[in-house]
Amino acid sequence: SRPVSVAVAGLGTVGAGVVNVLRANADIIAARAGRPIAVTAVSARDRSRDRGVPVSGLRWYDDPVALAADPQVEVVVECIGGSDGPAKALVEAALAAGKHVVTANKALLAVHGAALATQAEAKGVALAFEASVAGGIPAIKAVREGLAANRISRVAGILNGTCNYILTTMREQKREFAEVLTEAQKLGYAEADPSFDIDGIDAAHKLAILAALAFGRPVDFGAVHVEGIREVSALDIALAEELGYRIKLLGIARREDGGISTRVHPCMVPVGAPIARVDGVFNAVVAEGDFVGRIMMEGRGAGGGPTASAVVADLIDIARGRCTPVWGAEAATLKPEPSLPMDRH
Ligand code: HSE
Repeated sequence: SRPVSVAVAGLGTVGAGVVNVLRANADIIAARAGRPIAVTAVSARDRSRDRGVPVSGLRWYDDPVALAADPQVEVVVECIGGSDGPAKALVEAALAAGKHVVTANKALLAVHGAALATQAEAKGVALAFEASVAGGIPAIKAVREGLAANRISRVAGILNGTCNYILTTMREQKREFAEVLTEAQKLGYAEADPSFDIDGIDAAHKLAILAALAFGRPVDFGAVHVEGIREVSALDIALAEELGYRIKLLGIARREDGGISTRVHPCMVPVGAPIARVDGVFNAVVAEGDFVGRIMMEGRGAGGGPTASAVVADLIDIARGRCTPVWGAEAATLKPEPSLPMDRH
């Protein structure tokens, strides 16, 4: 049958990864989607750069927003990044044109997620973002769909691979933050502006999204208390270890009396806790529901393959006609719980 026609905006690590996964696993993807899924149009700054994936024969656009006006495109995959600028302009234009949107862009959703969701739902199209939180871990699906029967009391996790790599290397090699940061950037997992990673902002973006899903409310990035790992020293890590703890940068969203608290900061975690053993660029997402109890998922939170795996899962859902309400059905019908004021975190 006729392939689903996909446009990819941005051919960096994630965008090129999507092209690669769709080609490499075309047979199983077509079987699971009920139709083949094909990239037919792309937008990227430099046409001549070798990205390790074939891009000949595709319609090229210099301006990503122009993808929204391509009449053949059914789904736009946004891999540009950034909470504003071309990424936001493209997503708004694509939704306005009645196209489904898949995005890996946590900054965009954390800041504009409520408005974009309203736009998508008014148009009856999907706004899918599995790749925006914890890369390859299917955290969005697990929290929104897998745990849909539960009242969730807590969702938490290691949500930034760059910070977890830095903290792990500082501990294992007894080295200081500044030395290890450069290495972490070389791995290619860091944000364009690495202060987003080390100051906890990237983790806060992801936590705001998870909290919206877990507690059925609009994203509220402004309510997240954010501290990063700049001030953590090798000595802090060694002393914690002596006391039987590991230092991890955690994002924690919790239901408290009177509202939801959301915070990102370095935490002392007992060495015996499963999350203490999640090391390197791995992420972990923990959730607690009243009937399921506690679950934990661990996996690669960054990188082309894992992130593209999540993007393509969304494309398969869309091809199947599964167009889930953006923040879950609850958001439309139940009064959302408020965010707690900062001094109550
Ligand atoms: N900079 C992010 C991280 C990439 O290190 O986890 C994935 O969002």
